[in-house]
Amino acid sequence: MYPQLRIDLSKIRKNLDTVVSIAKQGGCSLMIVTKGFCADEHIVGEILKNDYVSYLADSRVQNLASYVDKAHMAGKETVLLRLPMLCEIEDVVRYADISQNSELETIRALDAEAAKQNKKHKVILMIDMGDLREGMFFQDEEAILKTCCEILKMEHVVLEGIGVNLSCYGAIIPKPDNLGGLCAIAEKIEKKFSIRLNIVSGGNSSSVYLIPKGELPAKINNLRLGESFILGNETAYSQRIPGTYNDAVTLRAQIIELKHKPSLPIGDVGVDAFGQVPSYEDRGWIDRAIFAVGKQDMNPDGLTPLNTKADVLGASSDHLIMDVTKENYKLGDTVDFSLDYGALLKLFTSAYIDREYI
Ligand SMILES: Cc1ncc(COP(=O)(O)O)c(C=O)c1O
Repeated sequence: MYPQLRIDLSKIRKNLDTVVSIAKQGGCSLMIVTKGFCADEHIVGEILKNDYVSYLADSRVQNLASYVDKAHMAGKETVLLRLPMLCEIEDVVRYADISQNSELETIRALDAEAAKQNKKHKVILMIDMGDLREGMFFQDEEAILKTCCEILKMEHVVLEGIGVNLSCYGAIIPKPDNLGGLCAIAEKIEKKFSIRLNIVSGGNSSSVYLIPKGELPAKINNLRLGESFILGNETAYSQRIPGTYNDAVTLRAQIIELKHKPSLPIGDVGVDAFGQVPSYEDRGWIDRAIFAVGKQDMNPDGLTPLNTKADVLGASSDHLIMDVTKENYKLGDTVDFSLDYGALLKLFTSAYIDREYI
């Protein structure tokens, strides 16, 4: 059935091998982030088969729950990336071996719940190195050390390491200086408490570019990679990673209407279905195709039509409209699209999209 995501598992394996070899080169253990494909079980299956990947990570505890047993059977740990909500502590302890945290109150709740479940729960303390999303602010070293001291007193929570997230809210690029700052904090924690942190996690797909340049600080020993794996993009400078495919997952949509019509709407322009005032390019009369997929499932700006001279004009919640004047399509024909990360995320999240594994 259409619309469908076409998932090429051999290309996925190739992407995985490529990010694994980059992580190895950088001396990093690897968390593969599964949220972009909503923990699709076949893609997760490929990750579980890879010996180098030690962790599967996701921001949604429901996704971790879907594969935690299989992950454990494959000798891998599960990691909750988004800071836990106080209302989900029980599930976090149940389904995540490790969670990223920045609030002592939350960590105390994890400790209490882990005691109840008779478990040890590992935490990565997040440090904000300037991106201004999650984490204890890097300049407040006293507070960071105090929090570590409190965690180290806990019986059921283990301080597994520290981590940073960049290139998200503030779009701050990982560099030897900000990552070096994280390493310096790790060293201070280790020295003050005479411990060894198992994980110093240096960020997401935006840190990948530093490895071939030899600029990832040596103390960074872990990366959490999503987009670089599934789409082959390094996200600091939006470059493709050599040896990866960015069409391992594509969308196939079907034409439900083909008409010759003007390119400009007729009448007074108000707002579109999403409350925006639209703007249109005057292309004269064109062949227009409507495809049965819409903004409820994807973001039309994130689609690139493949092997066609047709181009995307726009979309409403259920309809994608393309100018197909330069093609000879007929009703029922399909077009394939490659995807950006936003479109991929929405398409996997939509309940209206079929999946075909090739
Ligand atoms: C905390 C954290 N780490 C890592 C990632 C993975 O990011 P990317 O897909 O850019 O590799 C994300 C986002 O999914 C995240 O929120």
